Amino acid sequence: MDIELIEFDVKGDKRGSLIALEDGVNTPFDIKRCYYIYNTKQGVRRGFHAHKNLQQLAVCVSGSCRFFLDDGEITQDITLNTPNKGLLLKGLIWREMYDFSDDCVLMVLADQLYDESDYIRNYHDFQNLVQQKTTTRHE
Ligand code: TYD
Repeated sequence: MDIELIEFDVKGDKRGSLIALEDGVNTPFDIKRCYYIYNTKQGVRRGFHAHKNLQQLAVCVSGSCRFFLDDGEITQDITLNTPNKGLLLKGLIWREMYDFSDDCVLMVLADQLYDESDYIRNYHDFQNLVQQKTTTRHE
C-alpha cells in the first residue's frame, strides 16, 4: 500500500516540545493546503473517499484517531496518537477515519488545493478505478 509513517524531529527542551514542518525541508511534498478536523462527535466515522491525484500528510497533533485504509487489494488499520508522526497517503487509497478521542485534532497537509472533482466518494467507482489501473499496468 502506498503509505508511509514519517517521524518528525522534536525540538524538545525543559519547557516542552516543538515540531516544525517546512516546505521542502522535512515535508514529502510542497504544501498547498492545511486543514484540521477537531471536535469530532463520539462514534463518528468520516472520510469514505479516495483521491485521484492528491498527496496528504495526516498528523494527529492532539489525542488519537484511527485510519482504515484500503487500496483495493489490501486493507490496513493505523492508529495516530502522537504529534511526532505523520501518515503519508499517496496513490489510490480509500480512507475512513474513526475512533476520534474527544481531544483529537487531526491536521492534514495536502499538495493540492481543495477540489471536489478529485474525490471518489463511491466505493464501487473506487474499485472500478483500481481495476482499470491494474489492467493498464499489465497491458
Ligand atoms: P468532507 O469531505 O465531508 O470531510 P471528510 O471526507 O474528511 O469527512 O468535508 C466536509 C466539508 O468541508 C465539505 O463541505 C467540503 C469542505 N472542505 C473544504 O472546503 N476544504 C477542504 O480542504 C476539505 C478537506 C473539506
